[in-house]
Amino acid sequence: MSISIYPVMPDFAAEIGDVDLSKPLSPADESAIKDAFWKYAVLVFPQQTLTPEQQLGFAQLFGPIENERTLDPKATPTRYTGAFADISNLAADGKIWGESSRQRMYKAGNKLWHTDSSFKRLPSICSLLYAEKVAPIGGRTEFADQRAAYDALPDAMKKKLLGLVVEHWIATSRRRSGFMDFTEEEQKRLPPVPQVLVRTIPQSGRKSLYVASHAGRIWGMSDPEGRALIDELIAHVTQPQFIYRHRWRPHELVMWDNRCTMHRGTDFDDLRAVRDMRRVTVSDVANSCEQEGIAIPAPM
Ligand code: OGA
Ligand code: MN
Repeated sequence: MSISIYPVMPDFAAEIGDVDLSKPLSPADESAIKDAFWKYAVLVFPQQTLTPEQQLGFAQLFGPIENERTLDPKATPTRYTGAFADISNLAADGKIWGESSRQRMYKAGNKLWHTDSSFKRLPSICSLLYAEKVAPIGGRTEFADQRAAYDALPDAMKKKLLGLVVEHWIATSRRRSGFMDFTEEEQKRLPPVPQVLVRTIPQSGRKSLYVASHAGRIWGMSDPEGRALIDELIAHVTQPQFIYRHRWRPHELVMWDNRCTMHRGTDFDDLRAVRDMRRVTVSDVANSCEQEGIAIPAPM
């Protein structure tokens, strides 16, 4: 039997059934999942029981895996290293994190609309998040479709945005969520990087905005003018008609296209309830400016 696809919105977010991601996929299923992913940009796979290795195996079908975590594991140890980002509210010892733990302060930034790894020079094509345990209430993940939001812009705005380059910097989003104490090593490793503001997704040919909480300055604009434009675009993308709100079930995998969606986590009682998730992040093929044919200076 081939996979089943149940769209949540006509062109955004779909639930996928009749597939077991713990086993190698047939070529037909693999290509059907990829086609659905390029079309919907968010895929939900309910009732999967996946070991970390099986999650990684499925993720690798989409490209090379990011292996470097944003926070220095020496300053902030977590339960996972390497390919897995710990998206839980558990500390390295497996117990619920402390109220003022560094992990908790840093992860508060996930409640802002963002797209994973746009602050890296080589950004991410997609993320795959697996839920072991979910919060009984709250703790949703919300997704916004930056392609549909781009399509809905007035022509004059589309013209204005063409070719613009934006600096993405982890410190921009973390400053907004109140996390300022990056170590020297982290600051050195994570300088601001250029990304294009409007990109074309090769697999679908669709144009998309590429904004996020990491976006700060726009090249060729004053800081206040650039900031105002980014805020205006984020407000536009996050209107209700572009959003899918995901309610997690245990043993569910959700994957999203970081090139053309934004997401954010919603609040839950994180000092009391356990929400246990792990994420694998797949690297893009090149910096987004390079993909659009826009020359950018080499890193210093
Ligand atoms: C992520 C993320 C939000 C959430 O895993 O990249 O932003 O709801 N998660 O946990
Ligand atoms: Mn994220």
